[in-house]
Amino acid sequence: PSVPAPVICIDGPTASGKGTVASLVAQRLGFALLDSGALYRIAGLAATRAGIPLEAAHAQQIADLVATLHIVFTPDQRVLLGAEDISLAIRTEAAGMNASRVSAFPAVRQALLQLQRDFRRLPGLVADGRDMGTVIFPDAALKVYLSASAQCRAERRFKQLIDKGLSANIADLLADLQARDARDMQRSAAPLKPAEDALHWDNHAERTIEQAVQQVLAWWEQRQPFA
Ligand code: DC
Repeated sequence: PSVPAPVICIDGPTASGKGTVASLVAQRLGFALLDSGALYRIAGLAATRAGIPLEAAHAQQIADLVATLHIVFTPDQRVLLGAEDISLAIRTEAAGMNASRVSAFPAVRQALLQLQRDFRRLPGLVADGRDMGTVIFPDAALKVYLSASAQCRAERRFKQLIDKGLSANIADLLADLQARDARDMQRSAAPLKPAEDALHWDNHAERTIEQAVQQVLAWWEQRQPFA
């Protein structure tokens, strides 16, 4: 019998650093990467462009649209929707908020379920999101829950935006992030919460991304019977 490819899940709130950590861990291990948040961002973008209101009454319409989308993650980490490069369009704060809104609809989550599981392949997968360990890959070999205080995450996000040459305001970022946390944690469909068997890492201000990466790699090695 074939053994399924191992999965490392990295879940946590917005701007906790999980995306960067997941991508670096995948790179070091030579594993595939699933940025599940990007899928919800694409769902929000596609629905907005189609003029569908991001409201529960339209959830099935959004889910039907999502099922028709042709999404490709390129090896150089760009995201294509059909032939269009939407890497930048899905990274705005507005796109994040729209993603959070459509992600609360069970029909939309259902439409993205199998697509996410299809990312699993040898030699392994690193998956980052909100429900990787709780819903999508409950049998994952390693589940990590990465968090940080809202203030600390707002400051990180602020620096990222400024570094990109975009304008930003910490108070607005903090308010948006708290609104997004509240929605992601309080929704009934696959709310953000640590899996029971998740290992926790507080990515607070004095810790670097590299420390988080090293910790995840160390936990991973501990799980390898023949390492
Ligand atoms: O990780 P991110 O900021 O790109 O995610 C954007 C939104 O998508 C997030 O606010 C909630 C939703 N999301 C989700 O519901 N489940 C996931 N596995 C990943 C993201």
